[in-house]
Amino acid sequence: MCKLGINIDHVATLRNARGQSHPDLLKAAMILKECKVDSITMHLREDRRHIKDKDIFLIKEKVDLPINLEIAPTEEMTKIAMKLNPRSVCFVPEKRMEVTTEGGLNIKSNMIKIERLLNLLSNSKIKVACFIEPDFNQIDSLNSLGVKILEFHTGSYADSKTTKIMEKKLSLIKEAAQYATELGFDCHAGHGLNYKNVFKIASIKEIKELNIGHFIIGEAIFSGLKNSILKMKEIINEVRK
Ligand code: PXP
Repeated sequence: MCKLGINIDHVATLRNARGQSHPDLLKAAMILKECKVDSITMHLREDRRHIKDKDIFLIKEKVDLPINLEIAPTEEMTKIAMKLNPRSVCFVPEKRMEVTTEGGLNIKSNMIKIERLLNLLSNSKIKVACFIEPDFNQIDSLNSLGVKILEFHTGSYADSKTTKIMEKKLSLIKEAAQYATELGFDCHAGHGLNYKNVFKIASIKEIKELNIGHFIIGEAIFSGLKNSILKMKEIINEVRK
């Protein structure tokens, strides 16, 4: 089985473009529930450019689906996560001017900061993951912190300019997933995935969960949210049969 989390940030992007309430994030979250996805992923960015604080609390209250909250590794964000009490948090790097998350978190250079945040979360039941590049050194650093869930950044695989580069990026993800699994990690993956490129990522049996957002929400313009999610689920389930 490969679980699927749907990231609904960009429903909020569209809503915020007019500063009103349409399209309604809660309605989108309810469609996710109807489609029996495994979790709702939301990225509460420090600049609140899409998801707002009130969105995460409303969805937690009204929708019976596990929440995976993506946040920057800061004390402010960690405290919000503790208040929300989602199923999981995923620490992601954030740069103010970036269009989207541009790469994995550098665990090695953020050891002390992450350790402090892990301490803050240690009395909660929130599962902690970190978003990293498929890199053995990053996995080792995460392992030494005692974090046992990771999400591989698939962005550079997805954005590869040639098939040769794409195959190389895919091998890196495969090898990293095997290495991390041997160390006892639960491996997830996401970023830039679509109907075409998801196939090879979903075929890596060590990857237990995918988080997909922008493509699904974009595709929903043409086929509706329910259809775009169900088609993605069908592709992933077909690979894992
Ligand atoms: N996983 C993580 C950690 C992310 O930061 C994002 C983007 O917010 C995604 C998955 C989803 O990426 P995309 O929107 O490109 O599918």
